Amino acid sequence: MLQCGTANPFGENAAYCLGVLASGGGTNLQAILNRSASGRLPARVGVVIGNNSKSGALVRARRAGVPAIHLSGRTHPQPGSLDRAISETLRSHGVNLVVLAGYMKKLGPATLESYRNRIVNIHPALLPAFGGKGMFGKRVHEAVVQSGAQVSGATVHLVDEEYDTGPIILQRRIRVAPEDTPDSLAGKVLAVEHELYAEAIRLFAEGKIRVDGRNVRILSERR
Ligand code: GRF
Repeated sequence: MLQCGTANPFGENAAYCLGVLASGGGTNLQAILNRSASGRLPARVGVVIGNNSKSGALVRARRAGVPAIHLSGRTHPQPGSLDRAISETLRSHGVNLVVLAGYMKKLGPATLESYRNRIVNIHPALLPAFGGKGMFGKRVHEAVVQSGAQVSGATVHLVDEEYDTGPIILQRRIRVAPEDTPDSLAGKVLAVEHELYAEAIRLFAEGKIRVDGRNVRILSERR
């Protein structure tokens, strides 16, 4: 796969560089890698950072020929040093947009400051419902099913200092069927996530996102 900053056949926008942070299996990362490789996404993954050295996400990155770096409290035990290492790694790989894809840690002030309004996360429900500390993975879908909600979905939002509170960029709904279980719902939402994340990244790469306080405006798609 082509790296960020190298000549490319897809035109100017393909130079738009993503830094993906992931802790888990990495299906969202894979969806981004696939779309990037096939030219469906005008952006490339320049680096993947994982806080778990054995994560599927790091394996997927290496398989795609993308630099895959393990940075965690183990590699950087001194206070503040992990935050600085993450921020420097993103910078040194020419990252324009930071993409959290199942990243289980909070980012520190150095990273948040140097990528203000250029860090996105995807959450497997319709924020501001079913979000916040401790609401991740299967717990989200269990809470949705238990609540009796008839809709769920996915949310792409900007990242701030708290969990799941940053300005919302895109949301897509799906129906929760009466027979849905947390597992069946998780599968349906994950498929939506893969599409929605690519869509949000494309809007960033094409310069169509404007942030005004808590409001995010998407510039007209008409040419
Ligand atoms: C996704 O459900 C995402 O919404 C959440 O973490 C999960 C990551 O899944 N933030 P994967 O590792 O991309 O498969």
